[in-house]
Amino acid sequence: MHIGIIGTGSMGGMLTTAFCEAGHESVFIYNRTASKAQLLKDTFPTVITLCENPIEVVSQSDLIFLCTKFTDLPPIFESIRSTLQDNQYVISINSHITLRDLEESLSCKVAKVIPSITQTARSGILLFMGGRRLNSHDEDALFAILRTIGIPYAIAEDMTRVYSDLTSCGPAFMANLLLQYVQAAKQHGVEEDVAEQLIASMMIGLGKLITEKNMTLQDVVTRVSVPGGVTEAGLRVLQDADQDVLLRVLSATAQKQEEMAHKTT
Ligand SMILES: NC(=O)c1ccc[n+]([C@@H]2O[C@H](COP(=O)([O-])OP(=O)(O)OC[C@H]3O[C@@H](n4cnc5c(N)ncnc54)[C@H](OP(=O)(O)O)[C@@H]3O)[C@@H](O)[C@H]2O)c1
Repeated sequence: MHIGIIGTGSMGGMLTTAFCEAGHESVFIYNRTASKAQLLKDTFPTVITLCENPIEVVSQSDLIFLCTKFTDLPPIFESIRSTLQDNQYVISINSHITLRDLEESLSCKVAKVIPSITQTARSGILLFMGGRRLNSHDEDALFAILRTIGIPYAIAEDMTRVYSDLTSCGPAFMANLLLQYVQAAKQHGVEEDVAEQLIASMMIGLGKLITEKNMTLQDVVTRVSVPGGVTEAGLRVLQDADQDVLLRVLSATAQKQEEMAHKTT
């Protein structure tokens, strides 16, 4: 399947790189500021074809990712509408646009995908929401493509916010918590860069326990925490700490999304 990407900023650039590194043979890209797309072409000269406009992307691709901000989508719809064929796929990575609006704007098969920075390492979750024109064969085909750069996971559209908090904001939330751990260790005399390296290696090990050894998070807690031991003493402090903090994080993102939705409508 030929892949097209319109908008090669932070996310579109990441997806382009991930698809190229995954071994896809043809990726057609267009960005408003040509120099950004040119940098990607310089990195993957044999795979990437630079296009002059969105129509060129659409006319050469089976599956087109729209990777611009919400406000930049309507003029793109206008320009590609008459070139798109009904059997082509368009995937928006913007969470504000609804599947219904996508289907009303375009006559082809549509879906939404919420990527995560983890696809830089061709890992982590891509949240997937399919439009009504997709049949099971279409979904299988799209999942097969997405699986080359991460793990696609289908969700209901009205649950996008909380799932995105887990998979898309999650890396930033967890990294920030770990940075606080680094600062605490620093206050106890560990060099900052040493603490960061050790915590990063610990996280890689933790990931392997979960992926390679099938341990759950609770298994890890139980195995490390010996009754009456030092880990248990530390865990007690964490459990006594503000239990609402992550609930408040989820409320804050939901509230921000509401505000942004009002600004864009
Ligand atoms: N950042 C995240 O972690 C994240 C996660 C999931 C989803 N998203 C969604 O992903 C989308 C893109 O976010 P981003 O962070 O990648 O933004 P970004 O870095 O600003 O990238 C947007 C790109 O779209 C290009 N663009 C704008 N209008 C265009 C047009 N008419 N034709 C072609 N290219 C056009 C921009 O070109 P210029 O170079 O000219 O500005 C820019 O390179 C947003 O809808 C966001 O909600 C982001």
